[in-house]
Amino acid sequence: MARICASVYTSHVPAIGAALDLGKMGEPYWQPVFAGYELSRAWLAQHRPDVVFLVYNDHASAFSLDVVPTFAIGTGAEFEPADEGWGPRPVPKVIGHPALASHIAQSVIQDDFDLTIVNRMDVDHGLTVPLSLMCGQPKAWPCPVIPFAVNVVQYPVPSGRRCFQLGRAIRRAIERYDEPLNVQVWGTGGMSHQLQGPRAGLINQKFDKDFLDRLIADPEGLAQMPHIEYVREAGSEGIELVMWLIARGAMSDKPPRVAHRFYHVPASNTAIGSLILENVP
Ligand code: DHB
Ligand code: FE
Repeated sequence: MARICASVYTSHVPAIGAALDLGKMGEPYWQPVFAGYELSRAWLAQHRPDVVFLVYNDHASAFSLDVVPTFAIGTGAEFEPADEGWGPRPVPKVIGHPALASHIAQSVIQDDFDLTIVNRMDVDHGLTVPLSLMCGQPKAWPCPVIPFAVNVVQYPVPSGRRCFQLGRAIRRAIERYDEPLNVQVWGTGGMSHQLQGPRAGLINQKFDKDFLDRLIADPEGLAQMPHIEYVREAGSEGIELVMWLIARGAMSDKPPRVAHRFYHVPASNTAIGSLILENVP
């Protein structure tokens, strides 16, 4: 039986990828951001999973307004970094896990959640920046990654409640997989940010810190928050935070151990947050 040992939560700001790729990590603006992830990288090196199930959002790279899947699971053998306008990021291609991904699709769909099955797609900063933050700049990513894309870009978006319940279905699916794999579920995007309009640049530190507190201690209560509250309090792109509830829903019902928590403002137009939660046996 496969097991979920831990979950990781992190923002995905594209400028962080650019700072890494251009070697700007030591600049005064970026230094505190990367310093906040030193412990995360050390933790990951010590708690290397067999597979990462990575919940993220695509930003019109793999999908356009032609097709808008609410939840899409990557069942392919590999996924190339997307070209988002400046050429693909110089990072390793992502190696998938088709057998586990297909099993999760089968189990979660039979558990009444509709997924779009994607055998071929490129992955954008939503997926590659979290990998870079957690792994640095390796020649190959440390393990296979199953991309799980959530639509938080084009309305209507899924509710936090549905995301949390979906996380539980993903947990059931992983625990039914007949191989002793150690799996981590990552929830990415956020924290508060708004990229356009009169409120562009909005950061709500109180909202973000409360979100982190509640994600740890009261995820089921937090999952009841309506999407309009994310948008009002955390900005239009703050809605990316519903993806963290999928990863949290995949964790055990017992209170988790907090291995690391980090929050910093600013990183480009966003507040950057990160959390590592371990399942307690
Ligand atoms: C920024 C943040 C995002 O989440 C994104 O997808 C694009 C840009 C930013 O802060 O610049
Ligand atoms: Fe984004």
